[in-house]
Amino acid sequence: MSDIDSILKESRVFPPPPAFAANAHVGSLDAYRAMYQRSLGDPEAFWAEQAETLQWFRKWDRVLEWKAPFARWFDGGTLNVSVNCLDRHVVTWRRNKAALIWEGEPGDVRTLTYRQLLDEVCRCANALKAMGVGKGDRVGIYLPMVPEAAVAMLACARIGATHSVVFGGFSAEALRDRMNDATAKAVITADGGYRRGSVVPLKANVDAALEGVPSVTGVLVVRRTGSAVAMRDGRDHWWHETVDAASPDCPAEPVEAEHPLFILYTSGTTGKPKGVVHTTAGYLLGSALTTRYVFDLKDDDTYWCTADIGWVTGHSYVVYGPLANGATALMYEGAPNHPQPDRFWSLIERHRVTIFYTAPTAIRAFVRWGDEWPAKHDLASLRLLGTVGEPINPEAWMWYRRVIGGDRCPIVDTWWQTETGAIMITPLPGATPTKPGSGTLPFFGVSPEVVDQKGHPAPPGAGGYLVINKPWPSMLRTVWGDPDRYVEQYWKRFPGIYFPGDGARRDEDGYFWIMGRVDDVINVAGHRLGTMEVESALVSHALVAEAAVVGRPDDLKGQALVAFVTVQAGEKPDEALRAQLKEHVVHEIGAIARPDDIRFTDALPKTRSGKIMRRLLRDIAAGKQTVGDTTTLEDYSVLARLREDEE
Ligand code: PRX
Repeated sequence: MSDIDSILKESRVFPPPPAFAANAHVGSLDAYRAMYQRSLGDPEAFWAEQAETLQWFRKWDRVLEWKAPFARWFDGGTLNVSVNCLDRHVVTWRRNKAALIWEGEPGDVRTLTYRQLLDEVCRCANALKAMGVGKGDRVGIYLPMVPEAAVAMLACARIGATHSVVFGGFSAEALRDRMNDATAKAVITADGGYRRGSVVPLKANVDAALEGVPSVTGVLVVRRTGSAVAMRDGRDHWWHETVDAASPDCPAEPVEAEHPLFILYTSGTTGKPKGVVHTTAGYLLGSALTTRYVFDLKDDDTYWCTADIGWVTGHSYVVYGPLANGATALMYEGAPNHPQPDRFWSLIERHRVTIFYTAPTAIRAFVRWGDEWPAKHDLASLRLLGTVGEPINPEAWMWYRRVIGGDRCPIVDTWWQTETGAIMITPLPGATPTKPGSGTLPFFGVSPEVVDQKGHPAPPGAGGYLVINKPWPSMLRTVWGDPDRYVEQYWKRFPGIYFPGDGARRDEDGYFWIMGRVDDVINVAGHRLGTMEVESALVSHALVAEAAVVGRPDDLKGQALVAFVTVQAGEKPDEALRAQLKEHVVHEIGAIARPDDIRFTDALPKTRSGKIMRRLLRDIAAGKQTVGDTTTLEDYSVLARLREDEE
């Protein structure tokens, strides 16, 4: 018997459109396979060749030193990330190309060319130096999605400081823990940020957080909203005073290939956040190379990744990957439904976005808000769509393809993690036939496998544990200050092999289907079911917008299936629908997956990055008061409402 029973049936296949393939960086499955084989046949030669695409002060002596599970890539080399993202473009025709096109939530627009961005980064770097920040120091960044966020990250990189971006939606306590864990020296923040028309008081949160952080000696404050804030003498400095007055000339600090570029705390659904450490050369190479190939990036693209810079997707695919490639990236400050649910489509139309990368949770919200919103806009500029963050239900994928992509754009469903630094499993849009719900095939140099509990390869079609059995340049190097936790968390389950914590299966074509976190697996009458597959069956019903499935202890079956279901806007759920949905799942999957309970709710509890918190739903389903960490929960009131709804 396999380890995780796979029940999802999906047989639709979409080959790359010939016109897309004809102009793509990789234009056929054969071309992909040839390059993939080469990347695994002699990984060091492959990565050395790719590393030539970066600009170095000094080339490396050795491609890889692997003392499992500790890796060093390109040892002996020195470089600077900001030089790779900026300086090397301003000596070409790209100097006056837009690097960032930014739109604020109130509708203000700013464009920064590569030349302007470099000047601003240098000024910010000089301001940080004047605050006593230097190579090896840690700097907290707690900003809204404003251009200064990208500037701040690049300015840290320029002087060799390690940044730790904390999502602007996190509380003062969350910020305090992260700043203390990293013993940060400075924090860069703003007077506030806009979210759905109201102002988030970032500076006030920083003031509260820093009461308990002795290491921070300086705070740099961007004026964004004009709200009144308290400025502490000697500690706090206005950006528009210090950065604007600083010199636009700041030589980049050459740093070692393994110098820590950033720490990013994962918004795990369980336990204390971990400070994932990424270093300079390997991370930059991974994010730059994947951006080029996965998004088939060209100089005339306008590329938009909707992620906040508080998440790894914002690091790799808003800032570092696009800029390393000399691309034009759109950045948007606010909510997708402000002032109306068509804000994203309006942005795409007005800025002529060609590549659009977002999350399944957003796509499910769009489905729920209704097709009339995208229908108001001309989305013909789009040529490629992407998704990341969770398994995407096939019906949401089909909707994305049809309504947003006009049945014309390939979709890249990209699997990766904070820890992997860059995309790992993904279609290449001009090469890989896609199947709705599958991340398809591994990226160059990535060697994933599906194994059973003992670590033996699982047969095709059987569910199991996803592992990565070779090191790759953009892998995390450790957990900040806690190497034991690094080993324990990722390398113990299958000794010497990286375990990301996800379940998966591989089909007859070698395609990977991610089944979600293994701790989300339910055991019903001896069958271990991935919750995602039951959820996809529910979401394929016309009236269902979103579903989360969890197990509740059951004397008879081990676990019973409880489904939390959100219906489409305007629909009224009733007993008849409840019965219908149970039958629908039986029809789609089989009686084994029939939900024992269906609970209708107007919202599901999610982490700030949009992942459904099944752990909380498990407690509610079991009738327990919720215990454990809820600091990453997006909307606390959802929990209260779910409890009130208990029958
Ligand atoms: O469970 C997988 C899911 O998100 C996890 C990583 O989350 P995080 O570190 O927050 O990074 C999100 C952005 C990279 C993974 O372990 N996940 C991410 N992308 C996909 C996915 N699950 C299925 N399909 C994906 N495309």
